[in-house]
Amino acid sequence: YLPDGGGNTLKALKYKGRLWPAFDPESIKGVETFKSRDDDVIVVAYPKSGTHWVWEMARLLLAGKTDVPMIEKDDGMIEDVLPDKLEAQTSPRALNTHAHFELMPKEVLSKKNCKLIYITRDPRDVAVSYYNHHRKLVEYYDYKGQWKDYFPMFLSGKVDYESWFAFTRGWEQGIKDNPDLKVHVTSYEALHENTNEEVKNLAEFLGVSADEAFISEVVKKTSFDNMKASKGKNETYKEKDKSEVPIMYRKGKVGDWKNWFTVAQSEQFDEIFEQEMKETRAQKLYSN
Ligand code: A3P
Repeated sequence: YLPDGGGNTLKALKYKGRLWPAFDPESIKGVETFKSRDDDVIVVAYPKSGTHWVWEMARLLLAGKTDVPMIEKDDGMIEDVLPDKLEAQTSPRALNTHAHFELMPKEVLSKKNCKLIYITRDPRDVAVSYYNHHRKLVEYYDYKGQWKDYFPMFLSGKVDYESWFAFTRGWEQGIKDNPDLKVHVTSYEALHENTNEEVKNLAEFLGVSADEAFISEVVKKTSFDNMKASKGKNETYKEKDKSEVPIMYRKGKVGDWKNWFTVAQSEQFDEIFEQEMKETRAQKLYSN
């Protein structure tokens, strides 16, 4: 239970000195023993960066059609699915993970056989989205804190998956140091701004031949409203008061942080961001 400084705590699981969500430890251990296949596609992102969105795009593109059966909850998340269930999935598998670069399955980093899609999102929007996620997902986090007390937790990485800054630096460096990794790099913002083009690029990266009609079908099917309406009702978790709230589909906008950050928080954030993200792609994308 991580204290937030305001009298509340956030539940997380410590495994080998790193903070994970309170998943079944057997599935977290499975990250180390994960067996990659040549046709695996793995979406990689810090939590709340658009993982579900891009994962769904990838699933539909790989299937070559948009009427594929829905997967319940997070059945594609490497650290949240027991190894034998992952093994049982038929190829090509569309998976996702929030693992830091150095914690990625050894086999993925050594064999470099599967395709990775790496997404970033403005860390200020990530912070707000993660706060809401932690508040809403009572079953895992049991968190009742206020935004003002959560904000420093996010900045110092006292949350599951730890620091956004370290995660992002680690992935940038990892990609640079491993030029033979098959990785497609994109951002939540680019996906918003130019969805059609982004889905086309994704199809090309995945080696999927897709005509204009199929691309726009995928775009439509994976729109925020559509995913919230269709998948949102499955991805609910019982709140303690027994109401059900969609967790993964909240607002789906760029720049919602402006409705949450105070001027002081924004200044503090900018200062830390500039220190932590010097000469990175993320700095170019997200610095003011
Ligand atoms: P917000 O909380 O800002 O709304 P992840 O899938 O990595 O957990 O990311 C969740 C964030 O992506 C949430 O952000 C969620 O609303 C947003 N999101 C989910 N599906 C989306 C979609 N189809 N289009 C745009 N944003 C989407």
